[in-house]
Amino acid sequence: MKKVLFVNGCIRGAQSRSLRLAQRLVSQIPDAEIEVLALPSLHLTPCNAADIVERDALSAAGAFDLPFFALANQFRQADAVVLACPFWDMSVPSMVRNYLERVCVTGLTFHYTPEGRPVGDCAMQRFVYVTTRGGYVDDSDPVLIDHASSYLNSLCRLLSSGRFDTLAAQGLDIVGNDPEALLAAAEAEAGRMAASFWS
Ligand SMILES: Cc1cc2nc3c(=O)[nH]c(=O)nc-3n(C[C@H](O)[C@H](O)[C@H](O)COP(=O)(O)O)c2cc1C
Repeated sequence: MKKVLFVNGCIRGAQSRSLRLAQRLVSQIPDAEIEVLALPSLHLTPCNAADIVERDALSAAGAFDLPFFALANQFRQADAVVLACPFWDMSVPSMVRNYLERVCVTGLTFHYTPEGRPVGDCAMQRFVYVTTRGGYVDDSDPVLIDHASSYLNSLCRLLSSGRFDTLAAQGLDIVGNDPEALLAAAEAEAGRMAASFWS
């Protein structure tokens, strides 16, 4: 049985279309034990100066098994991570950034070679970013760049040798579009992704 960490960063809870899409994916992944991490209930704040001092001191002592690093350890051990959140302001909501600030820990989830090249220390084979967007993204247009996928793809490569994918439905808030049909098409894609998830 593989461990899948389902990071739920869907701020609108049961109303969230990103959550609906992610649940379709997660519920169909074969051979998986799902661990759900509900970000809204963690009320994470941005890392402040005291957090960094503490992190540096604990890291220097190699005290990575302390609760301070619980989120990073949980992430590190997962065979796959599914991160679901809405597309906000061309990227991820700040709540997700606050979480990832706690996951990226030098010496625990990644390290540097003597040449200064980062190497991932997380087990994940796959990192899937699940989102829905009101409009569209277009990386050839500076106003419409998908900063979320490029950011999370870089983080995936920083932290692991796993594969990164985005699963998205978009155009959901465009007048004249049929959001239900767009979501259904993305859900069908979720089913295909799940079917070959570990291959
Ligand atoms: C604060 C905020 C920022 C948003 N920014 C964008 C954006 O930059 N691009 C876009 O296409 N849609 C944007 N949207 C629309 C959402 O991406 C869209 O409604 C999405 O389906 C919401 O996901 P949810 O149902 O999971 O909450 C924004 C919505 C909110 C509330």
